[in-house]
Amino acid sequence: MNVIVVNGKEYEIRPEHESLTLLQFLREELHLTGTKNGCAEGTCGACTVLVDQKAVRSCRFKLAKAAGAEVLTVEGLIREDGSLHPVQQAFIDAGAVQCGFCTPGMIMSALDLLYKNPEPDRESIRKALRGNLCRCTGYQSIVDAVELASKRMMTAHITHQYGQ
Ligand code: FES
Ligand code: FES
Repeated sequence: MNVIVVNGKEYEIRPEHESLTLLQFLREELHLTGTKNGCAEGTCGACTVLVDQKAVRSCRFKLAKAAGAEVLTVEGLIREDGSLHPVQQAFIDAGAVQCGFCTPGMIMSALDLLYKNPEPDRESIRKALRGNLCRCTGYQSIVDAVELASKRMMTAHITHQYGQ
C-alpha cells in the first residue's frame, strides 16, 4: 500500500489518485486549500509545500513520486494550542500579507531556507524567494518578515520542522 504523510497524518494513495499532482491531492482530496493554485505550470510558487523538508512546486510534483514522503503544508504549521508558527507570525507583524494569495507558498519557501540557513542575509532571502511571485507587496516587507522570523527563531532556539 502506498502512503503519504501530510502534516503528521498518514493517508493512503489509492490507484485512482496516481495520476494526480500533489497539489490536486492536497486541495481536492484532503481539502487542504491553504496551498494555492496560481499558475499550475511551475512558475509562480503559490503551490510550494515541503516534501521531506525541501520546497517543491506541488503543481508539478506527481503524487506518485511523493509516496512514502512527509509533506508539510501551511496548515501543518499551526501548533496544537492554535498559535502560529514564528514565520507566519513574522509575516503578519512585518506587514508582508496583503491579498495573501502568495503567502502560504512564500512561507514554505522561507522555511526551506531557514532550515538550511537559520541566519540568512537579505540577499540570500531574496535569492531563496526568487521563484515566488507576489503582485501586492513589492517584496520588501516579505524580506523583512523572513529576517524577523530568523531573529525570533534563533532567539527561541527553534529549528524543529514544526517549530515547537
Ligand atoms: S501554481 Fe505551482 S508554481 Fe504556480
Ligand atoms: S500578498 Fe497578494 S500576491 Fe502577495
